[in-house]
Amino acid sequence: MMATTSKARPARPYGRRSGARTCTCRRGRGAAVAARATKTALVTGANSGIGRETVRELVKAGYSSVILACRDVEAGEEARSEIASSLGGDTASRMSVSRLNLSSLDSVRELAASFSERNGSCDLLVNNAGVMMIPELRRTDDGFEEHWGINYLGHYLLTSLMLGPLRKSERARVVNVSSAANSFGKLDLGDMDYARGGYDPWQAYGNSKLGNLMFTFELDRRLRESGISNVSVNAVHPGLVKTNLGRYMNPLVTKVFQLLPEFFVLTPEQGARTQVQVALSEDFEGVSGKYYADQTFKFKPGQFAEEDVVVSPSAKDEGLLKDLWDYSREATGASWDALRPIEQVAAPTNGNA
Ligand SMILES: NC(=O)c1ccc[n+]([C@@H]2O[C@H](COP(=O)([O-])OP(=O)(O)OC[C@H]3O[C@@H](n4cnc5c(N)ncnc54)[C@H](OP(=O)(O)O)[C@@H]3O)[C@@H](O)[C@H]2O)c1
Repeated sequence: MMATTSKARPARPYGRRSGARTCTCRRGRGAAVAARATKTALVTGANSGIGRETVRELVKAGYSSVILACRDVEAGEEARSEIASSLGGDTASRMSVSRLNLSSLDSVRELAASFSERNGSCDLLVNNAGVMMIPELRRTDDGFEEHWGINYLGHYLLTSLMLGPLRKSERARVVNVSSAANSFGKLDLGDMDYARGGYDPWQAYGNSKLGNLMFTFELDRRLRESGISNVSVNAVHPGLVKTNLGRYMNPLVTKVFQLLPEFFVLTPEQGARTQVQVALSEDFEGVSGKYYADQTFKFKPGQFAEEDVVVSPSAKDEGLLKDLWDYSREATGASWDALRPIEQVAAPTNGNA
């Protein structure tokens, strides 16, 4: 049996699939956390910032296996041992570190293959890793612009490969870490990699976070279309959080940011709460295809709510959602085999959906 992260007090009801468009939650208070015995989670970018705090909360909540998927395995091991010594007990044995470089689609495939070899099912996938404001145009191993390749395409492929293990869970959740920056994303699917020039780091970051959000909505639609009801997918904006995300920014700007009071800028622990609640709370059981955002910027510190204001109009464009899916599938070679109805997945396949 696991511990809960908050006092057991009935939470306000959240929108189910057909539920209310808006909901407000006071983070860390009142939202009951579902019991999680023998549960497996995979968190990307788990060695730092919000991802690291997410791992801590999952272990606290009783997850029996949390995989820290990290670009730098040594940094992952450091996070694992720091979390284990902060929590004590058997917690070290309930975490493991796996290498994942989202800059390489081969690395994504390797991680997914090794996960499937070692684990039967996956109960939670948190697509959290990210980079921001890389000043000059850089490309991933596969030739994609780095924000787009790491933040969006790598997670698109990873989710497609993890859907099989997710479907084996009784109830599985996917949480995509987007950002309010989605609102200034503008997708030109003919040139996501700036082959025609005009690279702009903010635009590139916004595009990748818009991709995370649009992917959430389209995957939810496709899950329902395939009759898959045991996997849900939601997106979050964690708020403005003091982490290493600003590593590529002007050091002076980063310094000022670090000095801002916590009323406006959250600690990593506070910043992790939105995704932790969406990942764990019983209130989100069966909720899918939603976007929840920290509300600190609306002068509601400590709260998050379903967000439909700071959202790019593209995220609601059904044609573009489908076009982005098709583009991403071709770019990554994702087969989405596991999206097929259950009886077809069980049958032998030639690897193509
Ligand atoms: N902080 C905020 O204010 C804020 C606001 C909105 C959204 N977000 C989102 O929150 C998520 C977590 O960011 P954070 O704020 O916690 O930043 P962070 O402290 O910089 O953590 C980012 C994580 O992503 C990992 N990562 C970067 N490139 C990778 C790659 N190629 N392959 C695998 N992992 C990689 C980093 O690994 P290394 O340590 O090895 O580089 C690190 O573990 C991001 O998706 C970000 O867009 C953050």
